[in-house]
Amino acid sequence: MKPINVGLIGIGTVGGGTFTVLKRNAEEIMRRAGRPIRIVVVADKNLELAQQVTAGACRVTDDAFAVVNDPEVEIVVELIGGTGVAKDLMLKAIRNGKHVVTANKALLAKYGNEIFQEAQKMRVMVAFEAAVAGGIPIIKAVREGLAANRIEWIAGIINGTTNFILSEMRDKGLSFDTVLKEAQRLGYAEADPTFDIEGVDAAHKITILSALAFGIPMQFDKAYVEGISKLDAADIRYAEQLGYRIKLLGITKRTPEGIELRVHPSLIPARRLIANVEGAMNAVVVQSDAVGSTLYYGKGAGAEPTASAVIADLVDVTRMATADPQNRVPHLAFQPNQLSDLKVLPMDEVVTSYYLRLRVQDKPGVLADITRILADEQISIDAVIQKEPGEGEEQADLIMLTHQTREKRINAAIAKIEKLGVVAGKVTKLRVEELGK
Ligand code: HSE
Repeated sequence: MKPINVGLIGIGTVGGGTFTVLKRNAEEIMRRAGRPIRIVVVADKNLELAQQVTAGACRVTDDAFAVVNDPEVEIVVELIGGTGVAKDLMLKAIRNGKHVVTANKALLAKYGNEIFQEAQKMRVMVAFEAAVAGGIPIIKAVREGLAANRIEWIAGIINGTTNFILSEMRDKGLSFDTVLKEAQRLGYAEADPTFDIEGVDAAHKITILSALAFGIPMQFDKAYVEGISKLDAADIRYAEQLGYRIKLLGITKRTPEGIELRVHPSLIPARRLIANVEGAMNAVVVQSDAVGSTLYYGKGAGAEPTASAVIADLVDVTRMATADPQNRVPHLAFQPNQLSDLKVLPMDEVVTSYYLRLRVQDKPGVLADITRILADEQISIDAVIQKEPGEGEEQADLIMLTHQTREKRINAAIAKIEKLGVVAGKVTKLRVEELGK
C-alpha cells in the first residue's frame, strides 16, 4: 500500500513525541489509516537534535520552507508554534496544495479565518486536534460527536500550567512564584509563561472551541482575558470555606443577546467533577440540549499526549485525502457558508454571580452601607461571612457571594463601595460559575 508522505516541522517536545509514537505504533496506525503514514523529512533549527531523534530514518533540514515546498510531502505537520514564521509556513503549505496538521492554537485563534478560507479555496484539510487540550479529543467531540445538539455552553480547564499552580497553592500553601518555577521545570509552561498565567493560552483555546460550538468565526480579539497572577492565596482559602474551588476557566456561552467568550479565575462548587481536576490535567464540560452535560478529561500537554492528537489528525487526513472536499468534515464544524454573525458580548454585558472580598472597619452600620449600595444596583446577596479581626486589628475581611447580575452593575457597585471611608483598599472581585444546567 502506498504510504502517505509527511513533512514534520519542529522536533521539540511534541514533534519528538509524534516521531516516537508513529514509529512505535506504526502497524496499528496503518491498520486504522488504511495506508502507512511515513515521515519523509523533518525540519528543525537544531539540526543536531533532528538528526539524533530521527536516527537516519528520514531526511533532515534546518530550512522549514524546504518542507512546505517539497513535492514529495503530502501533509505538513507544523509544530513550531507562534504567529510569525508559522503563519507564513502554513499559508505556503496550503497554497502548495498540502494538507496541514497543527497544534498551533495562537495561530488559529488569531488568523484561523484567513487560514481556513485559504484551505477551502485550495481544497485541503487543516486539522488541529492538538491545539486544544492536548490529548483530549475535544475538537472531534464538539465538531462531530455532538453534531446533533444545539450547544449551550462550554467551560474548560484548558491550561495545565495554571491548574497545576492553583492545585499546588491550595494543597501545599505554596506561593505563586515557587509553583510557577516548578511548572516550568516540569515542561508544562509555554515558551513565554505569561501566556499561561495571564490566561492568553486558555483564551486561544476557548476561541477555537467557541467557533466550533456556535458556528461563528474565530474572534480572539473579542475575548475577555484575565489570568491568575493577581490571585491571592486568601481567596483560595475563603472559597474553600464557602464550598468552592478556584479554577482558571475558559467559558463560552450562547445567550439571547450574543456569545460570551471569556477566561478568568472562577469559583466552582467543590462538588462538581470539574472542580476536582487537579495538577496539570485538563477537563472540558460541554452543555448541549440533547445529550445534556458531557465531560472530557485528560492530559492537556506533554510529548506523547499531544502526539496522540497530532497522529489522530494524520489518520483522519490520510483517510479523507482522496475524498471530495464537499464530503469532508468542515474545518469549523459548520459548513463555511453557514457561519453565523452572532456577536461576542463585551464583558460588561455578561451575567454571572460574584464573590467579593472587602477589608472593612469592624463597626456598626458598615454592612448596612454596603448592602444598600448593592441593593441600589439591583444586586441580590446570596451569602455573607465576616471574619473576626485579628488580634489588635480594627479591620476585618468581609466576604460576600451575590446572585446573578450583569458585570457592569457589579463594577458600578464596587466603585461606590471603594469610596466608603470604612472600606480599606480595593475590593477583590471573582466570578462564580455554578456550571449546573
Ligand atoms: N502551556 C499549555 C498548558 C500546554 O499549560 O496547558 C499546551 O497547550
